[in-house]
Amino acid sequence: MIVTLDGPAGAGKSSTARELARRLGWCYMDTGAMYRAVALIATRRDIPLDDEARLAALAEAIDIHFEYGKVFVDGEEVTLEIRTETNTAATRPVANAPLVRGAMKQIQRRMAAGRDVVTEGRDQGSEVFPQAELKVFLTASPEERARRRLAEELAKGRSVTLESILASQEDRDHGDTHREVGAMRQAEGAELLDTDGMDREAVLAVLLAWVDARRPAGSPRS
Ligand code: DC
Repeated sequence: MIVTLDGPAGAGKSSTARELARRLGWCYMDTGAMYRAVALIATRRDIPLDDEARLAALAEAIDIHFEYGKVFVDGEEVTLEIRTETNTAATRPVANAPLVRGAMKQIQRRMAAGRDVVTEGRDQGSEVFPQAELKVFLTASPEERARRRLAEELAKGRSVTLESILASQEDRDHGDTHREVGAMRQAEGAELLDTDGMDREAVLAVLLAWVDARRPAGSPRS
């Protein structure tokens, strides 16, 4: 069975999707990390970020896998390195390139084939797994998302302001919703879950109930 979780940055998708997969005992796919990994390796190999064909070939050539919340590329752990500000910026042109998105779609479908998966991103329900048994668009108001991000950043000891977070969030949302291919949108048939005022347990309870309701008859709970 496939569960897709899409939505804007800061809606709590990653931690929710990871925990949902853990509780179900299913595989977890962080597709944002996959685009980030391609950007990281492209930068290391001096592949220009506007060379779509080479980026798509690179996406096909590298082996990305997830293990207990860690991300590995060709066996090397890159969990933290893919999340630096520089790599986040480098990821944007990579994720905007239609050829790269086409390659990623095939890679993601291969990774999920024959498995129970929770996959998280922007286009998982709309483009990659339109037939998924459960599609969710997870969101929260811009203010709530920015407040959560601010708390995370302050906890890491970084000095940022709510205003600067709101501004960069708006910028990312605009980029994600206006790209030519794979734009972020609520997929047809997707459930909308607005997490304003909900804590993580409440969000997980809703998702687990939806999973149970759609589980094929006779399928055991892992
Ligand atoms: O979710 P994230 O911040 O790790 O995503 C990193 C980048 O990849 C961000 O620019 C959005 C993009 N992305 C995408 O275009 N499609 C996806 N399915 C997942 C992420």
